[in-house]
Amino acid sequence: MIGMGIETSCDETSIGIVRDGKELLSLRIFSQIDMHKPYGGIVPEIASRAHLEKINFLLEEAMEEAKVSFEELSYVAVTSSPGLTGSLMVGAQMARCIHMVYGTPILPVCHLQSHFAVLHLEGVPTEFPVLGLLLSGGNSAIYNLKEFGRMELVGDTMDDALGEAFDKVAGLLDLPYPGGPYIEAKALEYKPAPDEKPVLPPLLRNLPQDQVSFSFSGLKTAVMVLLEKQKNLSKEQICWNFQNSAFDLVERNLKRAVSKTGIRRVFAGGGVLANSTLQKRLQSWAEKNSVELFSPKKKIYCTDNGAMVATLGYYLFQKGYKRDIDFTVSPSRQEIFS
Ligand code: KG4
Repeated sequence: MIGMGIETSCDETSIGIVRDGKELLSLRIFSQIDMHKPYGGIVPEIASRAHLEKINFLLEEAMEEAKVSFEELSYVAVTSSPGLTGSLMVGAQMARCIHMVYGTPILPVCHLQSHFAVLHLEGVPTEFPVLGLLLSGGNSAIYNLKEFGRMELVGDTMDDALGEAFDKVAGLLDLPYPGGPYIEAKALEYKPAPDEKPVLPPLLRNLPQDQVSFSFSGLKTAVMVLLEKQKNLSKEQICWNFQNSAFDLVERNLKRAVSKTGIRRVFAGGGVLANSTLQKRLQSWAEKNSVELFSPKKKIYCTDNGAMVATLGYYLFQKGYKRDIDFTVSPSRQEIFS
């Protein structure tokens, strides 16, 4: 079965085509990063206009690369939530057009779940339940993924998302937007002494022991204070410290989520998983704690892309989900697809 996925929720316009939810036939992505860079963050109006300008070209290229006709598509899946409303509407409208011309069934899908579904393109088998760890520019959360189409929130962020914290700290350090890759590169340049203690305070000391909860705004403020008070610290040292503290919190929350739910299988996804230090830390944590943890091996699958949407669409389509042409898009999370 061949299906298409359309992704326009934020700053990537992307079309992916997959066979049987596991074989990638084509993937086209246009990243708007350079357009948003001068503003240090995503400008929604620029994002939706850029999606509109690019989506037709990407669709044509993806169809050519996959060497399929529209008549061969069994479904068209499209990200319908969460995301920027104007941007989501561009993808939704494209799916509606395909439906109107070719009668292709439409599947509006949850962006967050598609970050977990993408692992099937790298051969990870479907076995539920699974804990879904999502770390991106807009979300830091852990879910209990009962099956595709059904997941429950286990823990969320109280303020910033982890990717957002990377971007803000990069701003404080005069590093370009988006900050994640630049902070990672600087942190890797720092060679700490074997017994070096972190200079940032431990996070969320006062939270109840069983609470799964992220908070990164305090860490950002701590970096700001550090910059003012300890001018002798290098950017590399600050980046190393910031990453360490942030990843400590991720690890601690994952540990709590595992003991709270009893689930020992984790799917990790989202843009921050492109960070190789994080991937290594999570893997070694999982091995030590007898947890099976899967995260995308290819960086292109960490970032937003149409292939993950097509993959999630495959599983939902098989279960009989589909929507009428008047489906809506939503900026907020809709964990339950029903
Ligand atoms: O999932 P994603 O592509 O889209 C949004 O949620 O918008 O995530 C983008 C986020 C940005 O905040 C970016 O700084 C972060 O992922 N990111 C990274 C790395 N690469 C991208 N964070 C840490 N280390 C990286 N190597």
